[in-house]
Amino acid sequence: MAKPSVLVTGGSGLIGTRLCQKLSETGYDVKVLTRKKKENSRFKNYYWNPEKKEIEPEALEDCTYIVHLAGANIASKRWTKNRKKEILSSRAGTAKFLYESISGLKLKPTAFISSSAVGFYGTVTSEKVFSEDDPAAQDFLGQTCGQWEAAADLFRESGIRTVKIRTSLVLANKGPLSKIMLPVKLGIGSPLGKGNQYMPWIHIDDLCAIFIKAIEDTNLDGAYNAVAPDHKTNREFTKTLATILRRPMIAPNVSAFVLKGLLGEMSVIALEGSRVSSEKIKNAGFKFKYPTLEQALRNIYRI
Ligand SMILES: NC(=O)c1ccc[n+]([C@@H]2O[C@H](COP(=O)([O-])OP(=O)(O)OC[C@H]3O[C@@H](n4cnc5c(N)ncnc54)[C@H](OP(=O)(O)O)[C@@H]3O)[C@@H](O)[C@H]2O)c1
Repeated sequence: MAKPSVLVTGGSGLIGTRLCQKLSETGYDVKVLTRKKKENSRFKNYYWNPEKKEIEPEALEDCTYIVHLAGANIASKRWTKNRKKEILSSRAGTAKFLYESISGLKLKPTAFISSSAVGFYGTVTSEKVFSEDDPAAQDFLGQTCGQWEAAADLFRESGIRTVKIRTSLVLANKGPLSKIMLPVKLGIGSPLGKGNQYMPWIHIDDLCAIFIKAIEDTNLDGAYNAVAPDHKTNREFTKTLATILRRPMIAPNVSAFVLKGLLGEMSVIALEGSRVSSEKIKNAGFKFKYPTLEQALRNIYRI
């Protein structure tokens, strides 16, 4: 019998690369939808250019599942008006384009699994624990995630099971953690701003396991937070990282004023953060392999 196939958009990125590997190990036929096709890739690459509304039709042939991870990086460039447009259109616009692209197919995918982000709840520093029943925040990230999820829901409205994974900071030996780790490793790590903002996080392998559960467990439908149960503020996160890396944490807090000057509006990612619940995915039967930050960091740094 042919293996079920999964088409992964953004399969070349941090999460996508790991997820494709895990999916393949689990027995799926993995296809990557990318703007820059690589001939020597481990997985078959298919070209798309969502801006020009171009997609290789073979990408969608016999496609049992679609996992939608594509999105312009939110932390790599300042949030100018144009960059904000790109951040939104590369998520919501691409989901809509995928939906239009499958509309004419006789054999449609059985499930659409889309990334979303805990930015859905906004950048609010408080003790409130946000759950999936809370509405999208009014700020830029909240509205972006809201529109991203609304575009994903086009699939649901056409009868395709749709799961939206509200992802938190992904811990891996590459990506955002390597930027956070650098000053700590140099012995100059310190909390950002007040340091009391929450930093919801998840180990990359737990996140991939949630995506695979979303594919396989047909009871999963709607939004799920992908966040470890160990809630840490920025100060606690930095302290745990420094302890694991055996570095001191003596430098004063990084001034919010300086970060705002350096990063502009994007500084909210560093200076604010909501506390987010993992109860719904746990109640759906998911067991975290790395429930505590210490366990996750020890695994990543092999300590
Ligand atoms: N990493 C995290 O901590 C984190 C946290 C919360 C949510 N997420 C979400 O999870 C998804 C994947 O994250 P990631 O860390 O793996 O991201 P990543 O490493 O930046 O990869 C994203 C992929 O999206 C594609 N892409 C980039 N710009 C695009 C554009 N303008 N139009 C269409 N496609 C574009 C690229 O694939 P090609 O170049 O091959 O087309 C890229 O490899 C993103 O949507 C992100 O918002 C990530």
